[in-house]
Amino acid sequence: MTIEFKPLSFSLGAEVLGLKIKDSPSKEQIELVRAGFLKYGILLFRDQHISREQHIGFSKLFGELDQHESLPRDRHPDYSELLMVTNEPKPNGMPSDSKYTGQVWHSDMSFTLAPAMGSILRSIKVPSVGGDTMFSNMTLAYEKLSKGMQNLISDLHGVHTSARKIIDLSQDRIDETKKLIPPVAQPIVRIHPETGKKALYIGEKVKSFVGMTEDESKPLIDYLCRHASKPQFVYRHQWQANELLFWDNRCTMHLALGDYDESEIRHLERTTILGTPSGYVLQ
Ligand code: OGA
Ligand code: MN
Repeated sequence: MTIEFKPLSFSLGAEVLGLKIKDSPSKEQIELVRAGFLKYGILLFRDQHISREQHIGFSKLFGELDQHESLPRDRHPDYSELLMVTNEPKPNGMPSDSKYTGQVWHSDMSFTLAPAMGSILRSIKVPSVGGDTMFSNMTLAYEKLSKGMQNLISDLHGVHTSARKIIDLSQDRIDETKKLIPPVAQPIVRIHPETGKKALYIGEKVKSFVGMTEDESKPLIDYLCRHASKPQFVYRHQWQANELLFWDNRCTMHLALGDYDESEIRHLERTTILGTPSGYVLQ
């Protein structure tokens, strides 16, 4: 069967038709998927009844996988390639560490020196309604800025931290996070290593521009985040179980809305494909 792409929105995303991941896709099929990935920014695979091993195996066809050293609490205990995104309480009854994963606009692993090229998120259990994820096309958002704004931001770097909503905000936990993940500077305008296109590289984890105070930086960061998340640049995904979403972190950002009844289970698992080096460490 040949692969087809069915766009999910005008701005980005396409559903991949005619591919069953469990049937070990051919080299040619993977090449087509790669091309679609670069064209659409996110790809959706529906009705994929696969195992954890098959999820990992499929992801490896696109590059080396992150072992999630910087996020040890969210890793699957038996598979370091899998990051848990779940609200399922721990066996001891404590809330899950990843309950609030992704609830600010961000691009995965932007706070590291090899930010993720792609992420492949698999839905295992989803709530009866809601628990949606939004994605934004950062190439389009960049292109829609005026020349004046494009020039103004061309040499700026953003300070990226791993800041997120966590349940246990003890000093120990804050210190652990700082030690594992010092802040990293990334260009605000990033050139996509494969398409050569410029894209905004910003999100709500960026607290300041390098060389400027938080107060000075905030208005422009807020503006750029607001601009980049305008509805016309966004696709909103309503999950069903057994789907895989494969997104390009170099030219999209995303947000978990948390719009669901928390007494229901939402359990997804993610692989992370390593990207090329970018940025530098700040002390
Ligand atoms: C992620 C993420 C969003 C969601 O897995 O990287 O941000 O909706 N998830 O679960
Ligand atoms: Mn994410």
